[in-house]
Amino acid sequence: MLSAGSCGRKRLILPAFLAAVLLLSGCGKGSGGADGPPDTLQDRGEETTELSSSLSGSGKEEETGGKEKPRTDFHMNEEPIAVNRGEQLTIGFSQIGAESDWRLASSASMEQVFTSDNGYNLIFSDAQQKQENQIKAIREFIGQDVDYIILDPMTEYGWDSSLQEARDAGIPVIIVDREVKVEDEDLYAVWAGSDFRLEGDRACAWLEAYLETLPAMKDQKIGIVDVQGTLDASAQIGRSEAVREAVKKHENWELLAVECGDFVQAKGREVMEQMLRDYGSRINVVYCENDNMAYGVLEALENAGMKAGGDLASGEVLVISFDAARQGLEKTLQGEIAVDTECNPLYGPILSRIIMALEQGDELPKRNYFEEKQFSSLGTVTETTVNGSAYPVVLLTEELIQNREY
Ligand code: AHR
Repeated sequence: MLSAGSCGRKRLILPAFLAAVLLLSGCGKGSGGADGPPDTLQDRGEETTELSSSLSGSGKEEETGGKEKPRTDFHMNEEPIAVNRGEQLTIGFSQIGAESDWRLASSASMEQVFTSDNGYNLIFSDAQQKQENQIKAIREFIGQDVDYIILDPMTEYGWDSSLQEARDAGIPVIIVDREVKVEDEDLYAVWAGSDFRLEGDRACAWLEAYLETLPAMKDQKIGIVDVQGTLDASAQIGRSEAVREAVKKHENWELLAVECGDFVQAKGREVMEQMLRDYGSRINVVYCENDNMAYGVLEALENAGMKAGGDLASGEVLVISFDAARQGLEKTLQGEIAVDTECNPLYGPILSRIIMALEQGDELPKRNYFEEKQFSSLGTVTETTVNGSAYPVVLLTEELIQNREY
């Protein structure tokens, strides 16, 4: 567990009276050890709430190789923006690019939250899908002496030197969405993002439960293809692992092909066209690692005269997707996508709360998860179970889609 201070931060503002209030309210210190509640920084008194806009979320213990670590699960869409009432803070944000609807929504969320009215100056840098541009941006942010760096890393590896430079400059780094794998975890203050493996496990659990509702498919071979996202991105790693593991557990499931579609529509279509040439009607299920690639997959299926849907016995191809962006949900409502597991991009408000907590010197759990939903219009599966936990499947309606923020 780390506070901004352990990142070598140089401008930590923690007035003495505030520190005292935090200590008295039991919120100023991480207490996620064996005998304390996990660090969710909840229920702070009124004075502190105004200054800190404290974090909320459900505290849980995360199992990691036998050791339990505290974690926070943020309830997306319920996290208000934390307005900075102190001196304006400059935030350097390195965004991956604009490859998907999801990515556009995440950029918009950042721009809506980190405004001068809210007490922030956002320096937005679009890396155009190149890790070297993200490394360059981090160096530029250091040169500009920003107060915080927020990095949404394209891939998990290759960040040690640039994060070390940020640390040497005393600038705390917050990692968002995808993760980084670095030698020294103190190179960043906190990570907040999706549990990509859980997303994948939920999608596979849905598939398992759905197939059980189709007596005609009992013991039939189920040919699956995986259209992957950008290789070595956490979203790809977690979702691909999930389907690989699920296939191992089902004798009649066969992973026919695994190809990278880079999270973009055109590549998704291209990859699917090739898979159709190679495997044709042996493909029963397309496990597609994001919505934009799913749009491409649907185009390829249509061009090949194949129908996307849940009636496998009559030759329909079942498409699974992730993100639950508006267009993805429209296609889910129409039954073209069978199940869409949410990956929530609206992380601006949560990041503002993390920054305000770090400003106060609060200790935060290192890993903070976004709670996510799962949608289908097929209706036969209402709940899935993953590792003993039950997750609801939301029955999609037009009204739900209209009320979506992205
Ligand atoms: O890292 C999140 C993933 O990146 C989303 O699933 C995808 O759409 C995006 O491009």
